[in-house]
Amino acid sequence: MLQSSLSLVGAGPGDPEMITLKAIRTLQRADAILYDALVNPELLEYAPAHAYRQFVGKRYGCHALSQQEINALIVECARQYGHVVRLKGGDPFVFGRAVEEIEAAREAGIPVTVVPGISSALAVAASRMIPLTCRGIAESFWITTGTTRSGDISEDVHLAARSTATVVILMAMSRLGAIMQIFCDQGRGDVPVAIIQNGTTPQEKIVTGTAADITARAEAAGMGNPAIIIAGEVVKLKAAMENIVYTAASYEEK
Ligand SMILES: C[S@@+](CC[C@H](N)C(=O)[O-])C[C@H]1O[C@@H](n2cnc3c(N)ncnc32)[C@H](O)[C@@H]1O
Repeated sequence: MLQSSLSLVGAGPGDPEMITLKAIRTLQRADAILYDALVNPELLEYAPAHAYRQFVGKRYGCHALSQQEINALIVECARQYGHVVRLKGGDPFVFGRAVEEIEAAREAGIPVTVVPGISSALAVAASRMIPLTCRGIAESFWITTGTTRSGDISEDVHLAARSTATVVILMAMSRLGAIMQIFCDQGRGDVPVAIIQNGTTPQEKIVTGTAADITARAEAAGMGNPAIIIAGEVVKLKAAMENIVYTAASYEEK
């Protein structure tokens, strides 16, 4: 009899080599794969030829499917094909709507496992030599979303801007100016900021500046989604460390 199951699998930040062995082995056992827009399509090659594949992500602001439709599709595919791999960008539990999908599967009696992934919040910063913590400079970091369900800027951004922590903000490019103004309003217009778009991929672009001038710099460089914004003194360390690694590089815009 067909064994239905669901694996929520983190695909990593974009570079196809930044996926875990456990994720690859799970993909090799897939009967169906439902994948998001930020998943590198090369990863689908790990799946067996017979596996059903469907893109369910969001592109150019349009959802291919609503979250409710995805939840229903997971259950339908698990019943029809067996082992469903829900392949998500980064880590499934970081702004991944994973809880809703797990609940839908559990309600349908489908067993669920989670394979953690390398979140863009960590990997994109590290790959550009921005340490999120550094002894004597940053003792902690926040990972927050720029906007909430209502479209407002998250209250957490206001709280984070008051702290001395490194602040990593996802899904925030549409509100970049307003978010940077929050830092300026806290008297932190000079806090170093980096914006990295399509991190860890050949399309990667990076712009650096301060809370006061990063919005204009990002506009001039044509920065857009998907991108992470990193605000904190640690951003300065990037330059220092990259000078060691690259001797003659202009790393501001790749
Ligand atoms: C819905 S969230 C999913 C985050 C994902 N679960 C993770 O752990 O990376 C999507 C946001 O993640 C960020 N993001 C994901 N991949 C990225 C990448 N390669 N470069 C820059 N930002 C990325 C962007 O802020 C994007 O809007």
